[in-house]
Amino acid sequence: MHNRLQQLGRTAEEKVRAAADADSLKDIRVEFLGRKGQITSILRGLKDLDPVERTAVGQASNRLKDDLEQLIEAKFQEFRDQELERRLMQEKIDVTLPGKPVLAGTRHPLHLVMEELENIFLGFGFQIVEGPEVELDYYNFEALNVPADHPARDMQDSFYITNELLLRTHTSPGQVRVMEEYCPNLPVKIIIPGKVYRRDDDATHSPMFHQIEGLYIGERVTFADLKGILMRFAQQIFGSEVKVRFRPSYFPFTEPSAEMDVSCVMCGGSGCRTCSDTGWLEILGSGMVHPNVLKSGGYDPEQVTGFAFGMGVERIAMLKYGINDLRLFFDNDLRFLSQF
Ligand code: PHE
Repeated sequence: MHNRLQQLGRTAEEKVRAAADADSLKDIRVEFLGRKGQITSILRGLKDLDPVERTAVGQASNRLKDDLEQLIEAKFQEFRDQELERRLMQEKIDVTLPGKPVLAGTRHPLHLVMEELENIFLGFGFQIVEGPEVELDYYNFEALNVPADHPARDMQDSFYITNELLLRTHTSPGQVRVMEEYCPNLPVKIIIPGKVYRRDDDATHSPMFHQIEGLYIGERVTFADLKGILMRFAQQIFGSEVKVRFRPSYFPFTEPSAEMDVSCVMCGGSGCRTCSDTGWLEILGSGMVHPNVLKSGGYDPEQVTGFAFGMGVERIAMLKYGINDLRLFFDNDLRFLSQF
């Protein structure tokens, strides 16, 4: 038995040393140490031997098993080292090759225009505040002098969440929220940028769009201030040659109300498709804050006056970049977006 074990050990050792690769090494391991392997069989046969022999053979074959396992593992390691060496020699990395370009995003044109508009008003001493997009009917309409049955509600068909709660149809509700917060301090000189929502959807209307609201309240704010600031604003955004005009209009929350037009940025005022041959483009609504709205905000209309305005950011971006379809802003087509 002892000789058989020695013989087995020698054969196994020779085979391991001669193994050409990891696969044949695995076969050898199965042949000797696997469940039906030669050494395993001897160990399993121990129970049939008499006790004295059993101990001796048991020890010897266990030693043989351990030695062989070590030998095989060492050989595996040898193959792994060789493989690593081979790859280090063969696979050369050319660090001078150009890398894969990282695709950086661009800023959305609406954000660019928003920021430009904000910066102009920051330059005039306005501060930026924001209001909620899910708004109370009270702030969106009631407090702005638009009671429940007022026909002006038809112009801003809304997404209602409950009877009292809706997606704001304009940024004007921010006027009253800001006044409530500032009152009785003066002046109030803020802009409110943000998203607004209306039940509209075509080439010139999107159910979600952006507005910037402005509000200036003080002890002697006049219509001349309104005209002066909005004219300077138009010149900064469209260029110093731009002309402006104010047309009488109606909003329940301003009195008097006016819409501001700028001379057409496409044709310079001579008439073209963009301005429907009028030479003018409407860009914002404005007016002196209605006494009832001042009261909603806590101010005394006998003591203070103010003006407000609201403009659509998409409209200004379309004019600025010569874009003819509003929906391009929301299609997320990279061919469009990467141009900015
Ligand atoms: N909120 C008005 C609109 O969305 C615009 C506006 C704002 C008009 C402030 C006057 C004063 O149409």
